[in-house]
Amino acid sequence: MEQFAGKVAVVTGAASGMGRAFAQRLAEEQMKVVLADIEAAALERAVAEMAGQGHDVHGVPTDVADPAAIAALAEAATGRYGRVDVVCNNAGVEGYLDGPIWEATDKDWAWTFGVNYWSVVHGVRTFLPILLDNPDGGHMVNTASMTAVVPARNMYSITKHGVLALTEVVHADLKARGAKVGVSALCPGIIATRLFQGSRNRPAELQNEAPTSGAEQGRAMREQMHARLSTGMSPATVAEHVLRGIREERLYILTDQDWDEQIEARHDAVLQASLPPIGPAAG
Ligand SMILES: NC(=O)c1ccc[n+]([C@@H]2O[C@H](COP(=O)([O-])OP(=O)(O)OC[C@H]3O[C@@H](n4cnc5c(N)ncnc54)[C@H](O)[C@@H]3O)[C@@H](O)[C@H]2O)c1
Repeated sequence: MEQFAGKVAVVTGAASGMGRAFAQRLAEEQMKVVLADIEAAALERAVAEMAGQGHDVHGVPTDVADPAAIAALAEAATGRYGRVDVVCNNAGVEGYLDGPIWEATDKDWAWTFGVNYWSVVHGVRTFLPILLDNPDGGHMVNTASMTAVVPARNMYSITKHGVLALTEVVHADLKARGAKVGVSALCPGIIATRLFQGSRNRPAELQNEAPTSGAEQGRAMREQMHARLSTGMSPATVAEHVLRGIREERLYILTDQDWDEQIEARHDAVLQASLPPIGPAAG
């Protein structure tokens, strides 16, 4: 995709962090942008800020884990602007970090997979037919993570492996059909956002009734990772990578090379049937 001006983008998780930066950068390319997020007040602020800068934007409160909400988001976008050209399936949460994976509850799995993985399935099922119907084609960017490429460390990593694999399948299916639609898996490393404060948006019905034995470990890990992310790359820099990735139709968008050794070591371990290295966790 080369031309952005006058076209329409939909960005989920657009009230904060990377989604907010993608919305801003795409609007600066003169796109009309539909911002979706579960955090209604933050969404309203983001929309007001961007409208105040003269951008044509529209906010749609959306729980990305809910397929009906994604369908409503698509209707809102096409109803208002008549087309969709770029979709960023970006919303995500840090999810379950509270102990060994076998101690996670049904609610931990439902929340983490609902927001990080099923949201992208819903986005693909809802928005790809719309992009395929667009005579100008279009592009979808699914936010995975570097943790989808280096050895998996936690439930979050499992969801991001799913997003990466799903995106590769979408890419193969689009190519097999000669479609004018591109797709990218964005794999950022450590980005300065509120990702590890994601529990702020955990729905009441998906909260554990009583604190689990690992709840304190999870709280400490969230604080530690939040501090680590605050030293990371700016979301605006990631937005530049995304724009270039769309222009150049890149399947994989990596934001930095800090993880190359871990990526190589992981794949070497697979090829040599040895143990994978366990390095620092990515965001
Ligand atoms: N920050 C990093 O280091 C990093 C690295 C790799 C990947 N990521 C991924 O980047 C994406 C964006 O996260 P971020 O880092 O900007 O964090 P963030 O917390 O700043 O932004 C995430 C946004 O998603 C929204 N959200 C949460 N649950 C939602 C739901 N059910 N429906 C709709 N919106 C919801 C939040 O309200 C928030 O506005 C996520 O998919 C995350 O996994 C982040």
